[in-house]
Amino acid sequence: MLGRTGSSALIGTEAFYVEIEVHASGRGEQQFISIVGLPDAAVRESRDRIRAGLQSCGLPQPRGEAVVNLAPADLKKEGGAFDLGIALAMLACQNVLPPQKLAAALVLGELALDGKVRGVRGALPAALLAATNPGVEMLIVPRSNAMEAALGAGDKPVFPVDSLPEAVDFLKNGGGIAPVKAKIEDYYARMPENEPDFSEVKGQYAARRAMEIAAAGGHNSLMIGPPGTGKSMIARRVAGILPPMSLAEVLETSRIHSAVGLLNDGKPLLNRRPFRSPHHTISDAGLIGGRQTPMPGEISLAHNGVLFLDELPEFKRNVLEVLRQPLETGEITIARAAGSCTFPARFMLIAAMNPCPCGMGDPALGCRCKPDERKRYLRKLSGPLLDRIDLHVEVLRLSDAELTAAPSGESSSVIRARVVAAREIQARRFDGTQLYCNAHMTGRELQKYCVIGTSAVALLRQAIERFKLSPRAYDRILRVARTIADLAGDDRISDRHLFEAISYRRGFDEFSAGL
Ligand SMILES: Nc1ncnc2c1ncn2[C@@H]1O[C@H](COP(=O)(O)OP(=O)(O)O)[C@@H](O)[C@H]1O
Ligand SMILES: [Mg+2]
Repeated sequence: MLGRTGSSALIGTEAFYVEIEVHASGRGEQQFISIVGLPDAAVRESRDRIRAGLQSCGLPQPRGEAVVNLAPADLKKEGGAFDLGIALAMLACQNVLPPQKLAAALVLGELALDGKVRGVRGALPAALLAATNPGVEMLIVPRSNAMEAALGAGDKPVFPVDSLPEAVDFLKNGGGIAPVKAKIEDYYARMPENEPDFSEVKGQYAARRAMEIAAAGGHNSLMIGPPGTGKSMIARRVAGILPPMSLAEVLETSRIHSAVGLLNDGKPLLNRRPFRSPHHTISDAGLIGGRQTPMPGEISLAHNGVLFLDELPEFKRNVLEVLRQPLETGEITIARAAGSCTFPARFMLIAAMNPCPCGMGDPALGCRCKPDERKRYLRKLSGPLLDRIDLHVEVLRLSDAELTAAPSGESSSVIRARVVAAREIQARRFDGTQLYCNAHMTGRELQKYCVIGTSAVALLRQAIERFKLSPRAYDRILRVARTIADLAGDDRISDRHLFEAISYRRGFDEFSAGL
């Protein structure tokens, strides 16, 4: 007596096909269930959930010794998503269900003790797997994951269930449940509504301009200014001026959000770029991803979008240090005892901070911070991290007139159009290379695409000396100047572009001089 069905194991953000086989001896009064195939504690405990679920729903328990095998045997199985599949395979092996129909299904769902089916993590990667697996003819999933699964499952029907008896009835008698239909192309085209918009921001033209440049060239940026000047407000609006995500990007990012359980029927797909704003008390595991179980962290949830680190100096130094690798490579590799795991993590970093511990920044405004306190505050910033931030911009307090006036700035869609045009220039420039935006240019590309005349070189040298910029500022200014020229539609980087690029270094280097 054998029952069998399909399911999916989630390793990081990847789904792997798992075959569930149940063999029951059918002899003896004593009932015993063993689960083999590298189950973790949660999977081993599914025994008890299944037993209780079957009993509460008046469904037969397997008699004698039952062995549940999760194949392939060498793949680790984690979590409760196998419950429903195992329970159904147990019923199939007792001839309660037609075995062929179940064998061609991919089943996901955690069981509650009363036989209700709970939602699971990773329904989207599992559905994407099912879409291309010839052995899978249909999916049976928890209702709360149905939309998400339908978006990934291609032509394969997705049947939502609320409870174990509902799934049993569906497999026994057919019908009763309508497949959930959702086409990813339709969903993708739907523009998000009620997004925060740049037109709501009053004044702050320098910061808005800096964010436009950052978005256009994919540059990381740092806003420095007293509390209440709109830094968080501005950062929150940057994802909305980036170019719309491609379908591939939508899937990449949604897969990550699905793997940590952030998608549901109300939000089955991410069709806008993510904005993640972790609190400064976050651990390095929370930021880059879990080490025990391979779970994506905040930087991967921000993949293809914006990671906002507010109050930058308050983050623990070791937490900021771990950002170096992903900022350079666009992915994060997490070493674990049993091997390593790599997650995508290509995000635009926006950081914000107060100018000093009290936040006022200026004695004229009531700042009483001693020079030592200021120094200590700034020293908390990680040098290598600052090295990867191209733009620094001061955000000043609004004047009373600006505060009381109605906001008068451009809307996000107007800014986005310019960003998209500048990105198109970059796409042509870097066609056939690994690069896609100016922020990632290094030595060779800088020499090729950021040619400036001898007078401009002299000007730049002068600025570096006069404003005490670090020597590495040279490359950064060139990269930003390239983006400013692209925004203007100019092939050549002119002095005007350079001047503006220099202004985005001045603030911080001057302000932190003498550290
Ligand atoms: N430039 C601005 N335009 C419109 N509202 C603003 C502006 N600056 C601040 N505010 C208001 O003050 C609130 C706090 O701003 P916030 O962005 O949190 O400041 P910060 O992050 O610099 O401390 C905002 O929610 C908004 O209502
Ligand atoms: Mg803030």
